[in-house]
Amino acid sequence: MALPRYAAVTGWGHYAPEKVLTNKDLEGMVDTSDEWIRTRTGICERRVAAAHETTASMCSIAARCALESANLASLDLDLVICASTTPDTLMPATGSLIQDAIGAANAGAFDVNAACTGFVAALVMGSQFIQSGAYDRVLVVGGETLSRFVNWKDRNTCILFGDGAGAVVLEAADEECGLLSFVLGSQGSGGPLLDIKAGGAAKPASPETIAANEHYITMRGNEIFKFAVRSMVHASGEALAKANLHAEDIRMVIPHQANVRILRATQQALGIPWERVFVNVDRYGNTSAASVGIALSECAEMGTMQPGDNVLFVAFGGGLTWASAVLRWADISSIIARRGEGPYAI
Ligand code: UT7
Repeated sequence: MALPRYAAVTGWGHYAPEKVLTNKDLEGMVDTSDEWIRTRTGICERRVAAAHETTASMCSIAARCALESANLASLDLDLVICASTTPDTLMPATGSLIQDAIGAANAGAFDVNAACTGFVAALVMGSQFIQSGAYDRVLVVGGETLSRFVNWKDRNTCILFGDGAGAVVLEAADEECGLLSFVLGSQGSGGPLLDIKAGGAAKPASPETIAANEHYITMRGNEIFKFAVRSMVHASGEALAKANLHAEDIRMVIPHQANVRILRATQQALGIPWERVFVNVDRYGNTSAASVGIALSECAEMGTMQPGDNVLFVAFGGGLTWASAVLRWADISSIIARRGEGPYAI
């Protein structure tokens, strides 16, 4: 009988553009205030891509950092999965652009679009490729250039979003670690609550759609807020139960960063101490499919997780969609040290 295989996180990286847009800057652009944004969302500033930057270019930087931290070369990768709602182009897939930019000549590549849920969905998917025995090393990267899809005259949305990218390397291991359980959900009837109405096959871009601002994000914030808390609490509980774990067994929660009030309400309902919830929404705003990747990378960089720690990921977003996953942090140095030997030898 084949031995079980696990999908360890062995590397991480992130990138955020240099340009910082503060709440004060936004006061000069729409009818809002630093105080309103801080108290309603917890956001203080967000990053905005420079003219030459794209989702693929930011993801490629995050990907290189993840490979470097895993001590791997791009040629070691079997697969690149990119989660994004703001791909460089409808075709080719941004995953292929990243695969080319980083020189991952031995890897397949594709995109996943589940809006803000995308990174967790891609993490689950990448883990399946490894657990099934199909692949040994998978790069999962989430990136967004939301600034190009935001209506900078709409105060309901433009204060929320930011640009950036986050990546992880998943690698085969034979000691129990990586994905323990997951939940993926969708309620497509809620699609109109958060969408970009034109530019797809249903309503191709035209002078009329542009005049009607239908190429920008529109959102019914208040309804999304309620859905967010409900779905994150439910999905987290389900993933914990599937992993046979309780709230107190979780070392860190790495949630989608949309609004600190959503995070607070979720944390209180789950009964997990606030110190165990990773928060960086104050510095990046909502970076959609990049947010969990950036948060994971920052949290791992701080050395917060130790081998054997359980980490809960949870996200919600357009679709509507939601996802949660419980991962056990791997003994990364021993995986790296044993790379030369055994079935996963490079
Ligand atoms: O990843 C998924 C993406 N989306 C989300 O995560 C969004 C989730 N929702 C939210 O984060 C919150 O609903 C918002 C931050 C978007 C809004 O906060 P809220 O507490 O739900 O406010 P609201 O929509 O109920 O609006 C309250 C008031 C309204 O004025 P009136 O009707 O009470 O006079 C809005 O017009 O605040 C007004 N408002 C603003 N005022 C100043 C809305 N946006 C702004 C603004 N500055 N930027």
